[in-house]
Amino acid sequence: MLASDLDAVQRIAEVCFPVPWTRDEFQKELGREYSTLRVLRPSVGEPVCAFANFWCIGDEAQLMNVATLPLARRAGHARALMQDMIQLARDRRLRLVTLEVRRSNAGARALYQEFGFSEQGIRQRYYSDNQEDAIVMHLTLRMRL
Ligand SMILES: CC(C)(COP(=O)(O)OP(=O)(O)OC[C@H]1O[C@@H](n2cnc3c(N)ncnc32)[C@H](O)[C@@H]1OP(=O)(O)O)[C@@H](O)C(=O)NCCC(=O)NCCS
Repeated sequence: MLASDLDAVQRIAEVCFPVPWTRDEFQKELGREYSTLRVLRPSVGEPVCAFANFWCIGDEAQLMNVATLPLARRAGHARALMQDMIQLARDRRLRLVTLEVRRSNAGARALYQEFGFSEQGIRQRYYSDNQEDAIVMHLTLRMRL
C-alpha cells in the first residue's frame, strides 16, 4: 500500500466495518515499522477492491483488518491477502498469528478456519458499538528446520 491508496482503503473500511479506522489511523500505519499494509486490485490498473493490515511484534503477527468491497466478494481476494500475511509471517520465522473476530461474523470465521486458525477464547462485550463478544483465534506456525 502507498500513500496514494489511502483514500481507497479508507472507503473500503467505511463500507465494510461498523467502526472503521479513520484515514488518519491508516496514514499512521504507513509510518509504523511493525505494520504491513497490503492492497489488492482485481488486475493491473483497476481500483483497489480489498486490503489487509497486520502487525509483526516479537514472534507474533496480529491481523488488524481484512476487508473486500461487497461487490468483489467471494472471488478469493481475502484468501489471497491471508495467504500473503501467513507467508510473510513464515518468512520472518514468527511463531504465532493472532486475530479477533466478532462472534456474528460467520464469513470471516469460515475464512480463518480455512487457514487453520482455532478459537482460543472470548473477549466479552469487546466491541464498543454493540457490545458484541470477540472470538480470539490463533494459528501456530511450525518452524521449518
Ligand atoms: C470476510 C471478508 C473479508 C471475506 O472477503 P472475500 O474476499 O469475500 O473472501 P474470499 O472470497 O477470499 O473467501 C474465501 C473463503 O472464506 C469463506 N467465506 C468468505 N466469506 C464468506 C461468507 N460470507 N460466508 C461463508 N463463508 C465465507 C469461504 O470459505 C470462502 O471460500 P469460497 O468462496 O470458496 O466458499 C469480507 O466478507 C468482508 O470484507 N467482510 C467485512 C469486513 C470483515 O468482516 N472483515 C473481517 C474481520 S477484520
